[in-house]
Amino acid sequence: MKYLIKTYGCQMNVHESEKLAGILENMGYKVCEDEKDADLILFNTCAIRESAEQKIFAHIGELKKLKAQKKDMIIAICGCMSQQTGYPENILKKFPFVDIIFGTHNISELEDFILKRKSLKKKVVDIKENEDISNRDLMPKKRTSGINAWVNIMYGCNNFCTYCIVPYVRGREVSRPINDIKKEVENVVKEGYKQVTLLGQNVNSYGNDVGDENVNFANLLKTLDEIEGDFRLTFMTSHPKDISKEVIDIIAGSKHILHYLHLPVQSGSDKVLKAMNRRYTAENYFEKIEYAKSKIPDIEFSSDIIVGFPGETEEDFNDTMELVKKVQYEQLFMFIYSKRKGTVAEKMGNQVDLATKKDRLKRLIALQNEIGSKVAEKYIGKTVDVLVSDVHPKKQGYLIGTTFTNKNVNFAGDRSLIGKTVKVKIQSSKLTVLYGIMEEN
Ligand code: 5AD
Ligand code: SF4
Repeated sequence: MKYLIKTYGCQMNVHESEKLAGILENMGYKVCEDEKDADLILFNTCAIRESAEQKIFAHIGELKKLKAQKKDMIIAICGCMSQQTGYPENILKKFPFVDIIFGTHNISELEDFILKRKSLKKKVVDIKENEDISNRDLMPKKRTSGINAWVNIMYGCNNFCTYCIVPYVRGREVSRPINDIKKEVENVVKEGYKQVTLLGQNVNSYGNDVGDENVNFANLLKTLDEIEGDFRLTFMTSHPKDISKEVIDIIAGSKHILHYLHLPVQSGSDKVLKAMNRRYTAENYFEKIEYAKSKIPDIEFSSDIIVGFPGETEEDFNDTMELVKKVQYEQLFMFIYSKRKGTVAEKMGNQVDLATKKDRLKRLIALQNEIGSKVAEKYIGKTVDVLVSDVHPKKQGYLIGTTFTNKNVNFAGDRSLIGKTVKVKIQSSKLTVLYGIMEEN
């Protein structure tokens, strides 16, 4: 029995697919690469933008022929797209050959769904509103991200940014108990993982649902940083309104936490930020960046930006360009605003036309290419500690790795170095990537 999981979207989904793979392997399934060999194909879907949905629909549609030839093959759909109101019905109407649909709150029941499908010969559609999250992390995990181990610290989001579908499909914030997280991190470090990435939609509000002031993100970081062993620690995603000075101080004084912060700003215009319900101003945001730079001089930042949010004028867009210039991000993830059903922004009257959105995106990308290149050039001539993550996917004899500031580095070396930290002298750079030569270690 063979399975294949197709994962779309964010790191949260990547990690949830590792949990789903764990369940399947426990049931005796073995992973395969080719759809034709699979007895079960599972789509772990994303709903963040319309483009993600279109891509997923196209991929599901491509399976129609294969399923007609292989009637016993199970096709299952889960994740954020399944969880949206009306979607399970639409998926089945469009793709009647789909066997199982479940949502984001019941992934731990995958085995039951498969057994039901097999014994009752009936389609299984099961979307829940919430689950006991302790189940989810009791599941076996098949980690597939090389030397990095993802660790969930919380689920859901309470923020309701007006463009975003996440709070509707992932529910309210629920934090995992600190001791469970600590145990998981200790275990993965013992197992030899060299980087631990903590996951949550808004990690800075960790513990807010617990009602004990000692349970917060700063204390969690402090506790995890005290764990003995050779590992790097990082986290995503932070919300600018919630990240505290204390968290930055802890990073500054820590042993394991990367000097890198992904801090999505979304826009540099106060008017747009307000309409987005982000609850900070460009100035508040920049103060936090400045504070972090003062405490951690070599820190690098990355961010997410949406262009063409309803009502965004040329002036608003210019405010975004100005903020980007001020911060000097190492990397930006830039998106064209996409209307999401059921969100507040969907009903805003002043939508921006597609040509303007595309033009703004192009200008922002051009600016960031310049800035990103400049940030990378700073490293030329320096010797940096690089954690080797893998062999280069294309260049034989080359390795890839990251600096303590999360910059990607390419250099020649042997695969036996994967998982080790080596010294690399940086010689050149191209956009965000650094190229160097390994020094005697
Ligand atoms: N349209 C475009 N981008 C979006 N994001 C979230 N919702 C939307 C949307 N409706 C972006 C935000 C977020 C990132 C994960 O995706 O920038 O930080
Ligand atoms: Fe979406 Fe905002 Fe929650 Fe992030 S914080 S998941 S952008 S609602």
